[in-house]
Amino acid sequence: MLLNYASQGATEAGAQVEKIMLRDLNISPCLEIYGCKKTGKCVIQDDFQKVYDQLLGCHGLMLASPIFFYTVSAHTKIFMDRCQSLWVKKYWIDKIPYGQRNPRRKGLFISVGATRGKKLFDGTLLTIKYFFDILDAELWKALLYRELDFEEDVLKHPEYLQEAYEAGKEFAFALKGEY
Ligand SMILES: Cc1cc2nc3c(=O)[nH]c(=O)nc-3n(C[C@H](O)[C@H](O)[C@H](O)COP(=O)(O)O)c2cc1C
Repeated sequence: MLLNYASQGATEAGAQVEKIMLRDLNISPCLEIYGCKKTGKCVIQDDFQKVYDQLLGCHGLMLASPIFFYTVSAHTKIFMDRCQSLWVKKYWIDKIPYGQRNPRRKGLFISVGATRGKKLFDGTLLTIKYFFDILDAELWKALLYRELDFEEDVLKHPEYLQEAYEAGKEFAFALKGEY
């Protein structure tokens, strides 16, 4: 729901938004066979191939995942692991020095968890930072909400939905270099 609001904000600010529902796709986990070693392209032929093209073609990525056991959902993690092919391309094929950053994309991360612990998002943010790095994306903003367990819970916080909408809008402007 939060991602929908962010997408709406981005769309209204003029961005062209393509939505990807990972759970509706057939994406195998990374099998660590390193078939990507030659070209940087994953050799497993499934729905990841389409997402891969979309990833390379985008200027910004808005990623939303609930917290499952202090990290992203399994669907999200499987998707991230398949992007190891991009890591291989960047560091093994193109031989970019480790740690050299040249972010040409921006990322907005949205997450929710049921509990209210101080460290609820710590591990996930580290994962996201390194994942975005592979996409040459900087973590532009993270919207993180605690104490949301059931779908309707977020409706009790219209300010969260408003914040997501505004963030989507600002994100689109930032991508155009207007913010
Ligand atoms: C498998 C599983 C693991 C979860 N692990 C955590 C957790 O580690 N910490 C937490 O605060 N909430 C945890 N939750 C609760 C979810 O983060 C929470 O229900 C969230 O609102 C789900 O968001 P969604 O409805 O957008 O998928 C877990 C839920 C499931 C189903």
